Amino acid sequence: MKTTFVKYLLKTGMALMVIVSFACSKTEPSLKDAFKDHFLIGAAINTEQIMGTDSLAHLVLIKHFNALTGENAMKWERIHPLPGNYYFTLSDSLVSFAQRNGMFVTGHTLLWHHQTPKWVFEDTAGKPLTRDSLLAVLKDHIFTVVGRYKGKVQSWDVVNEALEENGSLRKTKWLEIIGNDYIEKAFEYAKEADPDAELYYNDYNIETAPKRDSALKLISTLKAKGIKIDGVGIQGHYHLDFPVLADIDSAIRAFGNLGVKVMFTELDINILPKPENFTGANISDNYELRPEMNPYANGLPDSASKQLADRYADMFNIFIKYPDIISRITFWGIHDGQSWLNNWPIRGRTNYPLLFDRNYKPKQAFYSVINTVKK
Ligand code: GLA
Repeated sequence: MKTTFVKYLLKTGMALMVIVSFACSKTEPSLKDAFKDHFLIGAAINTEQIMGTDSLAHLVLIKHFNALTGENAMKWERIHPLPGNYYFTLSDSLVSFAQRNGMFVTGHTLLWHHQTPKWVFEDTAGKPLTRDSLLAVLKDHIFTVVGRYKGKVQSWDVVNEALEENGSLRKTKWLEIIGNDYIEKAFEYAKEADPDAELYYNDYNIETAPKRDSALKLISTLKAKGIKIDGVGIQGHYHLDFPVLADIDSAIRAFGNLGVKVMFTELDINILPKPENFTGANISDNYELRPEMNPYANGLPDSASKQLADRYADMFNIFIKYPDIISRITFWGIHDGQSWLNNWPIRGRTNYPLLFDRNYKPKQAFYSVINTVKK
């Protein structure tokens, strides 16, 4: 008798849980629907999410997002790790998932100084390539990758992070071997490979001077030379107190005034303590893990959750003022557990930078973002 009663309770309890979670997800608002009159809502996705081995990912993506970026899937070291060897399994899956679900894809990224194999810049004897040979390598890469996805990938981050903090051109192998016009060349090759794709310049900290002025100059120079550039991606790896809202607001207008689309392409908010004087998004930065630098290892207190929610609301209150300039807001990840900010710039921390928690449940920040358009 007793066991039957327990079984009955378990059964009805479980049924109730299913009904509750179904009802919740039914009534839970959708991010992409909330902002459908403003801009696309994107997510950067990792291997498990692309391949569907992380089973919840596809449900959440379909419900909340209408734009996709591969977190790593299309970077040079993944797609073209050895001379003449291209690996398209992951990027093909991403693109076909996006096609099946009517999502906008941004190929990230064609030219960058990180996550690019050494061989790209060297001949078989290990000597630096000449300008012409490196241009030929770049052209082959862009033609092969962009060509494969012609008409399927709607946009490309053609060049990533070409500027230093002081606004000068970053000292990379691309600059050293090809010279100042390597950026133009990359854009020209991309346009030749797919004339209909949108082409972007993508970088971090371009909301604030002096880097912002250089980014503005770079874009206007390309345009003046007749080179096709359709947009600028502001990465948006933010902190609770950096950058100040006024800089975000005026950067949107300044880039918009050049006649290019503005996108926030890698949005997240790092709520953990910063190493001293640290602001950028340079992936090679690495500082020591000390306990005081990892204060929320056992969970996020309400006060911090509210701070994050308020910061997101402040930012979205700016974004929604510019539906004619901003075309897309992409988060760098779907949920907190997958974020690179758990390991950067300090390895092994527990961070909470996104709108969904480690179980793909919407956080307070999710609702504060949605509420900016529900007022
Ligand atoms: C930069 C790159 C991204 C990614 C992040 C960290 O912002 O553009 O591709 O590597 O760093 O994940």
